[in-house]
Amino acid sequence: MSAPERAPADRATSADRGPEPVRVGLSVNGTEHTLDIEPRVSLLDALRERLALTGAKKGCDQGTCGACTVWVDGRRALACLTLAITCEGREVTTIEGLSSDGELHPMQKAFVDQDAFQCGYCTPGQIMSAVALLEEGHAGDDAEIKEWMSGNICRCAAYPHIRAAIRAVRDQT
Ligand code: FES
Ligand code: FES
Repeated sequence: MSAPERAPADRATSADRGPEPVRVGLSVNGTEHTLDIEPRVSLLDALRERLALTGAKKGCDQGTCGACTVWVDGRRALACLTLAITCEGREVTTIEGLSSDGELHPMQKAFVDQDAFQCGYCTPGQIMSAVALLEEGHAGDDAEIKEWMSGNICRCAAYPHIRAAIRAVRDQT
C-alpha cells in the first residue's frame, strides 16, 4: 500500500523546515554570510564549524556552562541552545567582533591586567557576559556581579579575578 499523499501545505512546511539543508543568511560581527545548513544546526556549530569562528567554546552543549556565550541583537545568548536558523535577520556578535582596529576591548585588557583566566577555555564567554553585564546595569557590587555572572562557569575558579576585571572596567566608565 502506498503512503498517503500529504496535503500541499504539509509539503510546503516540510520543504521550508528540512530536515534537508536550508539557506540561512547570518550577519556575524557585521559581515553577511549565507549558509546551507540543516535547521537543527545550533548557532554554536554554525559559527565554529562553518564560519571558523572558534572563539565561542563548546563546554557542555546543553546550556549550563556559558562557554558559548555570544550576543544576538546585543543581548547575551547561549549559542549551543540557539538554532542558527532563528538568527536570520538578527546581528550576532562573537568575541572575535569585540575588538576594533586591532585594539582589545577594555574588558579584554582588564582580563589580562587582572589575571582573570588560567586555561582560558571559559574566557570568551566570560568576557561576552561581562560586557553585557555592565550594559545591563548589573555590576553595582560584588554580590550583584556574582549573581549576574552565575551562568558562566570557570573550572579554574578564577572568579575573584574575573570580578576584579569587571570592577576595573565599571570604575573606568
Ligand atoms: Fe553552551 Fe555550555 S556550551 S552553555
Ligand atoms: Fe579555565 Fe575558566 S580559566 S575554565
